[in-house]
This record gives sequence, structure tokens and C-alpha cells, in this order.
Amino acid sequence: MKAVLIPGDGIGPEISTSVEKITQAMNLDIEWVKYNAGAEYASKTKEVFESGLVDAIKEYKWALKGPTATPIGTGFRSVNVALRQKFATYANVRPIRSFKGIDSKYENIDLVMIRENTEDLYKGIEYMVNDNMANGVKLITREASEKICRYAFEYAKANGRKKVTAIHKANIMKYTDGLFLEAFRDVSKDYPDIEPQEVIVDNMCMQLVLRPETFDVLVAPNLYGDIVSDLCAGLIGGLGFAPSGNIGDEYRIYEAVHGSAPDIAGKNIANPSALLLAFALMLEDLGKNKEANKLRDALSKVVEEGQAVTPDIGGKASTEEFTLEIIKYL
Ligand code: NAI
Repeated sequence: MKAVLIPGDGIGPEISTSVEKITQAMNLDIEWVKYNAGAEYASKTKEVFESGLVDAIKEYKWALKGPTATPIGTGFRSVNVALRQKFATYANVRPIRSFKGIDSKYENIDLVMIRENTEDLYKGIEYMVNDNMANGVKLITREASEKICRYAFEYAKANGRKKVTAIHKANIMKYTDGLFLEAFRDVSKDYPDIEPQEVIVDNMCMQLVLRPETFDVLVAPNLYGDIVSDLCAGLIGGLGFAPSGNIGDEYRIYEAVHGSAPDIAGKNIANPSALLLAFALMLEDLGKNKEANKLRDALSKVVEEGQAVTPDIGGKASTEEFTLEIIKYL
């Protein structure tokens, strides 16, 4: 099959090369079709996507994306937000699992964060009312809320999980978060075997730090999902091992949760693990569970051994050496 690979900005090309090498080493039936997108491409061409990228995703349906940089405050809008809206990838799925060999405050974390990906404050409806006042619109629809909640319950059902927790602030945002919560309650009735739980977002942050083991699948509107999923990544030692999938009815775009790491770009010391784990997620969704597990196991072994890993996790190896070591275990 053909799939789209977007190397992206900063360390993106280095960690994407790692994915290409692993694909080859595993003899996988995937031909990567590469397209540029992001700040560097925009600085040269004034366009954020290479022409052909959108058509390629439409044709091949599956994509793996490296991080893309977004200027803060002014400038072009995020490539990620644009792709999520363009391809209606309404669910952002982030499994958060402890990784052997990674120093973290907790062991045996196994959570899945499911975040609504198309609306809320990320819809980008904001404007200056006057020179001293800006207004942003928090847009929540019943349709998108029901869809993401149903996705969360279906995910729980398919993966033998027992509980789905809705994260909200409906006590204050009675209409917007109220609507999300109403959708959650309605959808939960169709899943009598799965326990529904509702937790206010600020309390949720505290509970996750105090008692992460009491949670299972989490579902949230876009903004809370974005913030709480990084908190969840902190539970397993940071963003270095956090993959995500942007899932729609037709299209799927997988990526690492971390950004383009401009401070270490071009130095061949970027950790490729999160993008490799995003690739493993993609393999799993393609029904290639055996291959996904093989890749995760090989990565796990190299990380646990701690010899040929990159500096961010205490080693001295380059991205390339790290990748070659994984290939050795494959
Ligand atoms: P970042 O995740 O790029 O970097 C934060 C820190 O983590 C840096 O010290 C960096 O060196 C380190 N780091 C991140 N990934 C690493 C890896 N694979 N290996 C080793 N160290 C790693 O976050 P930051 O600095 O806030 O954002 C930089 C740019 O990335 C921004 O332009 C932002 O918009 C973009 N970004 C893109 C995302 C995406 O495309 N999905 C997600 C988050 C940020």
C-alpha cells in the first residue's frame, strides 16, 4: 500500500528517516509518498502545504506526520489544525502507557485519552473587538460531541476497557460544556457494560496526578483534551514516548505528540521513539498487530538496555544509532 509521509519541521526529517529505515528493515508492504508541510516550507514558498499533499491524503487515506512549527501570536495557522479540519479527523487518540526503562513517577500507567479534534476554541473563530479587546468563540455542537463520545465508548468496548470518564467544566460553561456532557450522558446509555464517569477538568488534573490508576479511557472537548493529554504524557515521563492518531471516518493521520524541537534540530540527536510509536499505532489500526508489537518490543528492549539511546533519555547515541539498534532487535 501507499501512505503519505510528511517529514515536517525541525527534527521531523531526522525522525521520519528513522521510520523509513524501520519500514524497510521490517519488510513492510508500505510505500511512503513524501510531501512537505510546515514553517520551513512556508518560508520558502508562502504556502504551508506542498501542492499535491491534500490530494495524496485523499487518495491514500493513511498518513504519518512529523512535527510542524507554528508561529505564536501572528502568522499562518497551524498545519495540524488545518489538516484535522480538512480531513474531518474528529478523534485524537493518545494511548498513554508506561515504558520500561523510562524514568517516571509512576509505573504501569495504561490510559487512553480521546480528544475531540475539530471544534471548541480551536475552531479559530477569534477577532479583535477593538484595540484593547479580543474575543474567541467556544463552539460546541451536539453532533461532534456525540460522535467523539460514541468513539470513546466504542473504543472502550473494542479494547476491553471498563470505564469512560468525561472531562468538562459544565458547572461554569453551562451551554457549551453542558451540551458536551449531555451528549456524553445520552451516548453512555447505549453502553451499559461500561461505567460512565464525569469529572470537572481542574479536579481531573489533580486526580490524574494523585490516582492515575483509577482511570481508563478519558474523553474531552478539544482544549481540555489538549492540556490534559500533556499532563498524561508527564505521568509516563514526558512527551518522548507519546504517540497520537487523528482518526476520521475516512482518513487517518498519525503523529508524535511532541513538537519540532528547534533547539536540537539538525544535530542527529532527536529521539525517534514517539514517531515510531505513532507508526506502531498506524500498523495496529491497519490490522498489523503482530508487526506493531514487534516494533514496540524492539524499541522497548533498546530503551530498557539504555546503551544506544539519545541524550534526552540519558544516552549518547545519535538518532541513526538508536534506529540501527532497534533494527538489530527486529
Ligand atoms: P517541542 O516538543 O518541540 O520541544 C520541547 C522540548 O522537548 C525541547 O527541549 C526539545 O528539544 C525536546 N524534544 C521534543 N521532542 C524531542 C525528541 N523527539 N527528542 C529529543 N528531545 C525532544 O515543543 P515546543 O518547543 O513548545 O515547540 C516547538 C515547535 O513545535 C513550535 O513551533 C510548535 O508550534 C511546534 N509543535 C508542533 C506539534 C506538532 O506538529 N504536532 C506539536 C507541538 C508543538
